[in-house]
Parts: sequence; structure tokens; C-alpha cells
Amino acid sequence: MYDVYEIRKDFPILSEKINGKPNTFLDSAASAQKPRQVIEKMNEVYFKQYANVHRGSYLLSEESTEEYEEARRIVANFINAKSDKEIVFTRNATESINLVAACWGRKNLHQGDEVLISEAEHHANLVPWQVLRDELGFTLKIFKLGDDGSYIHEEFLKQLSDKTKLVAVTGMSNILGTVFPLKEITKAAHQKGALVLADACQLIVHQKVDVQDIGCDFMAFSGHKTYGPSGIGVLYGRYECLEKMPPYQFGGEMVDKVSYEHTTFDVPPARFEAGTPAIVQAIGMGRALRYMQDLGVENIEAHEAELVEYTTTRLAEVKGLKIIGTAKGKGGVFSFNVEGIHPQDLAFILDKEGVAVRTGHHCAEPLVHRMGFESVARASLGLYTTKEDIDNFIKALHKAVSFF
Ligand code: ALA
Repeated sequence: MYDVYEIRKDFPILSEKINGKPNTFLDSAASAQKPRQVIEKMNEVYFKQYANVHRGSYLLSEESTEEYEEARRIVANFINAKSDKEIVFTRNATESINLVAACWGRKNLHQGDEVLISEAEHHANLVPWQVLRDELGFTLKIFKLGDDGSYIHEEFLKQLSDKTKLVAVTGMSNILGTVFPLKEITKAAHQKGALVLADACQLIVHQKVDVQDIGCDFMAFSGHKTYGPSGIGVLYGRYECLEKMPPYQFGGEMVDKVSYEHTTFDVPPARFEAGTPAIVQAIGMGRALRYMQDLGVENIEAHEAELVEYTTTRLAEVKGLKIIGTAKGKGGVFSFNVEGIHPQDLAFILDKEGVAVRTGHHCAEPLVHRMGFESVARASLGLYTTKEDIDNFIKALHKAVSFF
């Protein structure tokens, strides 16, 4: 039984008043709130257990190391990776994608090759490929979506070719909410001999993700969207891919043997974790994923699916409001525009009512333009969102419409 009102008690911030109003937090797609279990776990480590990892021959360091490596095992289990050796801790999903670009891309992409992405990519899965293309001279291709934001397999297949070396796609658009069929995409890409990198930042919060079932070669996501801390992210890489990749950051703990003349490198994942890692953040992320597992990712998904339906119905009541991205089966993000009201002005009124939404191009500027806008507002749902949150949101939208 998924009792969202009980669950909300785990999130102290949700009981705080915002501008004297109930906290209606609808920006979880940008960064989710943290349950007390995560905050307490991180405090406990700092209070009782903290030391650097993999370096000290004393109790605190051994305990910290064990907790840090346990977090890696939790991540591996959460996405059903074959081994925790396939989990690289990074700073965030952006760094994970940049790691693939720098370590795999720079070695494997040449003139004549193609990298294929979708129109819906976040800047983090567009700009690294543009910059690398300018350096190496491969071709960056982009497949189209439907005008309602839907994924069209034929459009993807049209752009996929024998020259495609990498397909880099989002699992769920942070603007449209469109869920991409990663398994089908991966199967087609592999038939052409291309690798697949999935940006699962948004998807992993809303749906069960199984990397072995999907079959992708790389997957990126971050801690702060999965109800954990910021400053920590994950790159999943199939071990056969990771072990062939050179490192791109050099320093402590990523080496095997070092002399004044020459250095050899450690095996993955250590090879890609140069320097002191984000120890407590990784442990916090592990605790957050365990929190999600305890609630049941399928239950979270069912709760959100019900809210997506409810939100869609209720938004239709608002005069002049257009939802941007209405693909079937979409996840819990609602980008929208209200005729005659700038998103920034809208957000200002909503904020006065305690309702938090994000505005702008949401780090996917070309997509906002492709959908016909300069800027949009976005409300996004989390595992703690209630129908009352949506009711507050709709009430505030009516207020904004009548004000303008
Ligand atoms: N990528 C995050 C968002 O969509 C920050 O808001």
C-alpha cells in the first residue's frame, strides 16, 4: 500500500511554509527533495565514521571504504548491473557523459563515423558530442520526434546507419516527459554495430531500469534527482567497454604503478575515479536508492502514472494553457505555456502561492525552439507529490490567468 501522506513525513522540507503557503514543490525533475533517512545517514557518517577511502589502514577508513563500496553495490543492484565493477562514481550525469565522450569517444570516433542523438537531448548529451565532433571530424546526426513530442522508431531507423558508432539518447525527456524505448533502440543500434549510451537522469526516478534487460553499453544518472545528495553521479559501463577505455583524469588511486618515468593505470572503476571521491555523497546516494527500493520502484511508478493522468485532466481546465509534450505513456513532467503570459511572470505568481515550477529552456534549448517556444514553464512530479499539490497548482494557475 503506497501511502503518499505517510511518505511525505520523511521529507521535512515539504512541511515548511513557502511565502506563508503550503510548500507545493513541483520541480523534482531539476532536483528532488531528500528524505530524512538520507540526511541522517550522511550526518551519521560525518559524526561517527568519516575518513578517506581506500587509503587508510585504520578502523574509520576501513568503515568509510566499506560504506562507499556498499553504495556502489546498491547502485549496481538498483539497475541490475552484472557487477559493481561496472559502476563508476562521478560528480553528476553530465560528468558521466563527458567521461564517455573523453575516454571512449576520443579513442573510437573518426572522420566518416556518425554519432546519433535525438531532438530531445539535454545539453549534457548534445554539447559534448558537438565539441568532440569539431575536434575529430565525425558527423553528429539528430533524429526527429513527432510534433506532440513522441518517439518515432522509423525516424530513428532512418538516421541509423552502418556508419553509426554511438547512439546517445535520453531515456525520458526532461521537457516532454516522453519515454524512449531504450531496449528497442539498443537492439537496432547493436545490429548496426553501434554502442548505446542512455541518459537515464529522468527515467530512473520514474521507472524500473534494468541495464541487462535494456542491453545498453553505458548509462548516466545523478544522485540528486534520485532523492540523494548533489555532487554525485553514476556512469554504468559494460565492463568489456570500460576496460578498453583510457582514463581522462589522472592522480591518486587510479594508478597501478608509478615511477618518475612512467605510469600504469588501475582497472575500472578505480581507473576513472581519480582523487578523493565524493565519499559521503556516494553513501547518501546509496541510502536514497535503498529508500526508493523500500517503497518499491513499481509502486512509485504506479503512483506517478495516476498523477500524470490527474494532472493532464486538471491542466485542461486552465484557459489558454498548452501542454508541450503529450506522448502516450509520458512520465511526470509537464512543460506548458499559457497564452499571453510569459513563463517567468507565471512562475512569479505561482511562487507567491507556494508553488515551485521551473521556467526557461531547461538545458534543452534547441528542443524548446523546435517545439515552437522561446521559453516554457515546467511542473514536475516526485514520489511525494499528491493530488492536493496538483490542486494548489491549478488554483494558482487560475489566479495567474485572471491576474493577467
Ligand atoms: N536537468 C535538470 C532539469 O531538467 C536540471 O531541470
